[in-house]
Amino acid sequence: MRTIDWDDTKNCIIFVDQTKLPLARHIIECADVNTLAEAIGTLSIRGAPALGVAGAFGIALAAQTSKAKSPIDLVQELEGAAEVLRNTRPTAINLSWGIDRVLRKAKTGHSITQVKELALEEAKAIADDDVEICKKIGANGAKLLEDGDVVLTHCNAGRMACVDWGTALGVVRSAIEENKRIKVIATETRPLNQGSRITAWELLQDNIPVTLITDSMAGHVIKSGMVDKILVGADRIVEEAVFNKIGTYTLSVIAKEHKIPFYVAAPMSTFDFEKHAQDIEIEERGPQELKYFGDMQIAPLDAKAYNPAFDATPMDNVTAIITEKGVFYPPLSFEELKGLE
Ligand code: MRU
Repeated sequence: MRTIDWDDTKNCIIFVDQTKLPLARHIIECADVNTLAEAIGTLSIRGAPALGVAGAFGIALAAQTSKAKSPIDLVQELEGAAEVLRNTRPTAINLSWGIDRVLRKAKTGHSITQVKELALEEAKAIADDDVEICKKIGANGAKLLEDGDVVLTHCNAGRMACVDWGTALGVVRSAIEENKRIKVIATETRPLNQGSRITAWELLQDNIPVTLITDSMAGHVIKSGMVDKILVGADRIVEEAVFNKIGTYTLSVIAKEHKIPFYVAAPMSTFDFEKHAQDIEIEERGPQELKYFGDMQIAPLDAKAYNPAFDATPMDNVTAIITEKGVFYPPLSFEELKGLE
């Protein structure tokens, strides 16, 4: 099953609950927008491309379940749903991108039936495109990996962060398909452990060799010569920086110090051609994520805690950005890239 999909029989969204991995592969059937918003907020569904598809299906879901009596009222309801979904997580641009693409299409409908059909068709197209795009990212990125490479990755930019295949891990999968022997080192990615819970799990599902390290081991491991390349995903790319999971910036600094290539793999929908680095909101999550590990308390409850979920890696630290349209080497010309969208 895809990470997120539309169930035509039940007329609802279905997705893997990523908070339960790796202990259980629990599937959620989601039939209303507020439940979807909550699932995005708790990271049941997560990863920039998957969030784009979740936003798209969310608008389609709002359309299918609406009781509006006119196309104008229906579109107004969809705009309300868009606001609810948009407010869940601010950093990954793909969420708004998916929402807006479906909204734009739905607004071209002239009847209630047409608005509903157009919304669902567009959301399904976005989900299908995501798989194709990841395959192209994989093919473009695989050229940068050599037989025998050890790749360090952070967080989860694999099939669980997308509809299938993955961005950074898609590159690894495509290289392996080309018979290159690639090994992965996965950082555990505190505080929510997307690296240990999700990346390690999904790579093992495909028999891809993976070694787990804690985030704080990365400097030592890279300095020891155990890593050939770093490969991460992205939540938003602006002209000056790549926004990705907290800890990515630190890895980029270590990579630069030790002259290790630092690659970012992402679809064109992750580029933000409007804003600059200082305008981007970095999601700050609750202190409980640092004070509890599951149900277990791991810090004094009255300790102050700061929990930014993302950081910004300056373009100077990025060797190349791998997209479905090709591999781009900073300094990037955003004018040219915008033309490729
Ligand atoms: O908070 P998350 O788990 O949604 O963060 C995800 C990441 O930072 C990923 O590395 C990024 O979205 C790239 S996903 C292909």
